[in-house]
Amino acid sequence: MLELTGSTQDDLVKLISQGAAENGEVIVAEFQSAGRGRLDRNFIASAGSALLFSFYVVPKRDRADWGFLSQLAALTLHSVVAQGLEEEVLLKWPNDILIADKKVAGLIAQATGEGVVIGIGLNVEMSLAELPVPNATSIAIAGGKKLDRNVILSNFLDAFQQNFQLWDRGVEFITEYTSICSTLGREVEITVVGRENHKGQAQEILKSGALLLADGFIVTVGDVVHLR
Ligand code: BTN
Repeated sequence: MLELTGSTQDDLVKLISQGAAENGEVIVAEFQSAGRGRLDRNFIASAGSALLFSFYVVPKRDRADWGFLSQLAALTLHSVVAQGLEEEVLLKWPNDILIADKKVAGLIAQATGEGVVIGIGLNVEMSLAELPVPNATSIAIAGGKKLDRNVILSNFLDAFQQNFQLWDRGVEFITEYTSICSTLGREVEITVVGRENHKGQAQEILKSGALLLADGFIVTVGDVVHLR
């Protein structure tokens, strides 16, 4: 566990490029001074309030399928977060984790070396005053009692290893993802930097993890706003 770093994601990508990290490597930090979110956003969490980590996986599966890996991580984290919580825990495409419609965790994934580095930020003991934005939450705010970040991390890594081994052998998790994804069936607005916004009804998740709208529009990267 690092007390302080810029970003566990940047640290791990650098180690891989130097040949100093292998499949399965995990970096955890107490605090990040330059935490990165999706779509070039930053990710802010005060020291000790969140579980912040990145890990490296090297799939055998075709690269065309790797897009689903962050969703595999999201559905695995969903199962860990949902344990012991009374409020509804769902996913927002592609991989935000929501408790009662508020974001409790976000994930990023980047292809690096022979595999993918997945970074996760999960608000655990974050107080109301520490929330970076009003539509965020934490396990503690939602009334969760399982707040030991080491236990959460180890539960996640065990569960992810099992799911990953199955997925890497060709087992699909689309049905499982679909059953907990609050985006599907909703009217959504898609925002992609440099492109016009697109509105439509979210219909299906493809094997690659992309979101298919009812009008045939396929979203691979972008931000989704739930309209209704
Ligand atoms: C998002 O919600 O946009 C994704 C947030 C991902 C944040 C995590 S925290 C650990 C890892 N290191 C980073 O710099 N980012 C990820």
